[in-house]
Amino acid sequence: MKKQTERKSRRSNYGYYEETPEATAFKRLYNKLQKQYDEQGLRVFMTTSSNTGEGKSTTTAFLATASARYRQTDTVLVDCDLRRPVVHKFYSLPNEGGVADILTRGVNIRSVLKSSAIPNLKILTAGVAERSPADLFSSERLYQLLDRLRAAFQIVLIDAPPIIPVSDSLLLSNVVEGILFVCKAGVTQKRVAQHALELLEDNRKKLLGVIINNMKGLLPYYYDYRYYDYKYYSHANYELE
Ligand SMILES: Nc1ncnc2c1ncn2[C@@H]1O[C@H](COP(=O)(O)OP(=O)(O)O)[C@@H](O)[C@H]1O
Ligand SMILES: [Mg+2]
Repeated sequence: MKKQTERKSRRSNYGYYEETPEATAFKRLYNKLQKQYDEQGLRVFMTTSSNTGEGKSTTTAFLATASARYRQTDTVLVDCDLRRPVVHKFYSLPNEGGVADILTRGVNIRSVLKSSAIPNLKILTAGVAERSPADLFSSERLYQLLDRLRAAFQIVLIDAPPIIPVSDSLLLSNVVEGILFVCKAGVTQKRVAQHALELLEDNRKKLLGVIINNMKGLLPYYYDYRYYDYKYYSHANYELE
């Protein structure tokens, strides 16, 4: 069973992307986060956005892969979107056992931390939440979890829920050191993004940058100097502004 999972993971797109333009974009993004560490000691980052479907999980998974592969940085990717967990799917892992179990029952972190097919990249899946994520994220255990991960890894990347529909990300923003905000090009409206950022209240000062996820090539390609004809996500591009 385990062997099957590993084989499947190695075949996934997330294992073979070094030559893609996206990989280059994510290396740059990684470098920006590394700079935050070098200059300010920050190592716990969350990705969020105004609403669902703007590319938070995809962006965070690519960034985690880039971090682990590019500089062999010990990286942990944590799925804190307990309402719509998807991180496990990117790495062909089961969702069972993860953040929800640690926060609900104090389950030992090591016992639920999963290996990915990528050396240096560990995954903490969401697990199945039996209580409201907002309750779970209000608990002292969230601080303990992040402290332990911070001590054990060079970089901690959290895939967070959207800000507008639920309060989960506001609670998470209390415990992280830096926030990346994803906007979907041509879809996320400026006033909606502004409203979402206002909802972060004081934690808005932790905002490190905005990632523009140009999912459908909405800009004409000649408009976009990063246009490449590539098999995966050929019209995607990411940038930290
Ligand atoms: N850059 C991209 N190019 C193409 N499809 C994308 C891109 N980013 C996200 N997607 C797709 O859009 C959908 C929503 O993305 P996801 O990362 O799950 O968003 P969120 O986490 O914000 O809800 C997924 O089906 C994902 O595969
Ligand atoms: Mg998501």
